[in-house]
Amino acid sequence: MNALEFSGVTKRFGERTALRRVSFTLPEGSSLGLIGPNGAGKTTALRLLLGFTTPTEGSVLLAGKSPSDPDSRVGIAYLPESLKLPERLTVRRLLQLHGTLAGLSGAELEREVDESLELTGIGDRARDRIGGLSKGLTQRVGFAQAFLGKPRLMFLDEPTSGLDPIGVREARDWIGLARDRGCSVLMSSHILSEVERVCDRIAIMNRGEIVASGDLSEIVQPGETLEDAFVRVVRGS
Ligand SMILES: Nc1ncnc2c1ncn2[C@@H]1O[C@H](COP(=O)(O)OP(=O)(O)OP(=O)(O)O)[C@@H](O)[C@H]1O
Ligand SMILES: [Mg+2]
Repeated sequence: MNALEFSGVTKRFGERTALRRVSFTLPEGSSLGLIGPNGAGKTTALRLLLGFTTPTEGSVLLAGKSPSDPDSRVGIAYLPESLKLPERLTVRRLLQLHGTLAGLSGAELEREVDESLELTGIGDRARDRIGGLSKGLTQRVGFAQAFLGKPRLMFLDEPTSGLDPIGVREARDWIGLARDRGCSVLMSSHILSEVERVCDRIAIMNRGEIVASGDLSEIVQPGETLEDAFVRVVRGS
């Protein structure tokens, strides 16, 4: 079963075509990294999966269901590109609310909130208001929130933006942990080393199209780094 499927998806915003006949699948339990220059269409692809916007042509399916079907969102975690969280809530309160939405309650809710706080290294900030956190700490809250309810599918849009170098490394472990639990992952990132370490497969996007996809050995030629391959593929497309 595929965790998700894009078939011939075109998305236009007025005159602008953000995605052009994009097709790819994410088999359950696997991870795919979307990389590509600014404006390539990565965030648009993720937003289509969440039903925030609909395809102009083609279809998007989440475990066989349309993103417009509320059932399709059960077990899905999303860490958006620009994370905006309610500033007046404390970190713990936000996670409690989010966990409740993810179907948790009682002792299980409290346990998962504590686990997420510890995992993401923000246990000592649980009583702080979100509005008083630094950018990277807020991103850690986003990660903590994404882990609640043990999702089966995660969408991460530039997940390490704003994290310090230790946080970047830790984020790989957090994503690895989710993968060990069988979670499928679709992420976009400009940090190619991160994509290389976290993802089984990579799709390079440029101007709304997938211009290369496969595992690392299919994309990177002998003697090249992923960055070299990225530049070659994007310039050649
Ligand atoms: N709501 C919108 N209205 C109009 N144009 C949009 C909208 N959303 C995206 N676009 C356009 O679609 C194209 C793809 O944008 P998208 O945000 O998907 O790129 P991206 O690959 O995520 O880029 P980045 O690396 O900068 O995050 C861009 O040209 C963008 O301006
Ligand atoms: Mg983006």
